[in-house]
Amino acid sequence: MEQPFYVTTPIYYVNARPHLGHAYTTITADVISRYHRMRTDTTWFLTGTDEHGDKIVRAAQQEGLSPRAYVDRISALFRELWPELNIANNQFIRTTDKAHMELVQQILQRIYDNGDIYFSEYEGLYCFGCERFYTERELVEGRCPDHETTPETIKESNYFFKMSKYQQWLIDHIQTNADFIRPERYRNEVLAFLREPLEDLCISRPKSRLQWGISLPFDGEYVTYVWFDALLNYVSALGYPDGEAFKTYWPVAQHIVAKDILKPHGIYWPIMLKAAGIPLYQHLNVHGYWNVDESKMSKSLGNVIEPLKLKNVYGLDAFRFFLMRDMVFGLDSSFSEEGLVNRINADLANDLGNLFSRVVTMVHKYFKGEIPALDSAAEAEFASLDLKGKVMETIAAYSGHMEVFAFHKALLEIWDLIGHLNKYIDLTTPWVLAKSKATNEQLRVVLYNLLEGLRIISGLIYPVMPDTAKTMQRHLGQDPEAAFFKLDTLKSWKGLLPGIQLPKTITLFPRVELQRTAPAAVQSTSGLTPALKEEITIDTFAKIDLRVGTITKAETIPRAKKLLQLTVEMGGETRTIVSGIAGSYAPDDLIGKQVVIVANLKPAKLMGVLSKGMLLAASDSDGLSIICLDTPMASGTPVS
Ligand code: ME8
Repeated sequence: MEQPFYVTTPIYYVNARPHLGHAYTTITADVISRYHRMRTDTTWFLTGTDEHGDKIVRAAQQEGLSPRAYVDRISALFRELWPELNIANNQFIRTTDKAHMELVQQILQRIYDNGDIYFSEYEGLYCFGCERFYTERELVEGRCPDHETTPETIKESNYFFKMSKYQQWLIDHIQTNADFIRPERYRNEVLAFLREPLEDLCISRPKSRLQWGISLPFDGEYVTYVWFDALLNYVSALGYPDGEAFKTYWPVAQHIVAKDILKPHGIYWPIMLKAAGIPLYQHLNVHGYWNVDESKMSKSLGNVIEPLKLKNVYGLDAFRFFLMRDMVFGLDSSFSEEGLVNRINADLANDLGNLFSRVVTMVHKYFKGEIPALDSAAEAEFASLDLKGKVMETIAAYSGHMEVFAFHKALLEIWDLIGHLNKYIDLTTPWVLAKSKATNEQLRVVLYNLLEGLRIISGLIYPVMPDTAKTMQRHLGQDPEAAFFKLDTLKSWKGLLPGIQLPKTITLFPRVELQRTAPAAVQSTSGLTPALKEEITIDTFAKIDLRVGTITKAETIPRAKKLLQLTVEMGGETRTIVSGIAGSYAPDDLIGKQVVIVANLKPAKLMGVLSKGMLLAASDSDGLSIICLDTPMASGTPVS
């Protein structure tokens, strides 16, 4: 039965050009909405750009443009990219759209009138990259965990949103709706976060510091926090409160985001909706991060992957297929051009492409390219191979995986069917059947069934590879524009009409060679990377008291993924040192290691633990390596 389906991507910041990560989320939304169209659901797919805030103003300044001119330019890059990637979004929203800005003001006023927004003075550590205040506890070695910069202390009077008031309600909602946030690991992450008291959210920025934003309707001296503005796009796009689209689609809203923005979507957004009296979204679907050759993708590492370059070299459908096949939705994945090339050659050129041309070539060879008619007696002979049964099982399993965003599993089901069809050819040996007139009827059955299998495959790949699906349909003598890509049509076995003349076969996917379009590893053009710090004298260096320390105990710290709490013997004393090395070392591996400690560093509290000193370590994009002694020394020995 026809049902509504509404899917959204994050609205992307316009401070950078679109890259592989943005393409992945948006292609995922396209795949799931094409799948729902195959179910004949009425589907709405929203994407757009997030255009207010400090970050954007700074990016505009760097380009020497006004914020307005700058956001127009970058937003257009996103909007124009999507059709190039065959992304069929229904709507593209910008937070600078008038209707959106008006709605944000309306909701702010409503929440203010309800008493959930209050004014207060606040002094805190502010990270400009994240556009938010941090508590000491949230910092890692005094730095922002995302940007690794030291936040600035800012004192301001601001407006706060009473999130704390809704904490228990949100916990209850997440607990009673098991798939509100999925996959489960992210649901657990949000619940773990909610075990600590939730702080109220600062939702204003004084205009003395930031003008590029939406004014608070109840105080013209302030603009609203960019997240309060951005999240509301999901309802403003639908014409909340009275729009027909809102009434139809909001009850079935599904968001897709990556793990970087789990907290705003899993915590701020449901609470904002509750406070504004708007029903909650249905699902938050969270995926992992694409890294590049095992490193984080970033401008500074020069390894940002541009989707259009890959499309131009390897083909659009191959690129879309690779993204959906190689990432397990919810987990991180590493992009490499070698991986892409191997995937194309193995799965697309060899498996799918060969099967397709093999079958169509046989139809041309044995039946002059005409879809053969069936003879029921001959059909009965192959009943034990039960190709129809296998196909129906595949469609059912595929649908089950697609419903829960397990795209790689859905594709595996199709590839299993491809393998099955190849086996079917080996078992029925059409070239042997072709040798005798007596087995002509059997040959008809075998080739018809294979064509029918290919018809079903062309439908199942449609959400991921729409162009290839259409090419296959055309070469199976079907009209690709007709309402063929429907799950129900796929399920009705013997959908192909005998007698139709097939065009000559084609190579669906030629084999490809590695082209190295994507920047691989970090390359420094000259000198040291990063650049040397300012020169110091030996006297300045002598002020740093470095000592040998022996690690006697190492433990993880709850909720601090990057930190370990170390107990270090330093001769006369035992110190507790908190170090951000959990990503590179397991606690047990550290016991007994002799390391170099900055012993006279001012103690600092990290995640509630007082850290006295710091470990020396080298770090690069692959992780950290602590500096250890070559031969054993007494703990506490000075290092110079
Ligand atoms: O956060 N791997 O915008 P943004 C996978 N404006 N996906 C990635 C990725 C990667 N390496 N890098 C980015 C914002 N993404 C806000 C959102 S919504 C109301 C406001 C994708 O431009 C992924 O979807 O930083 C991630 O969540 C999003 O881009 C962040 O985009």
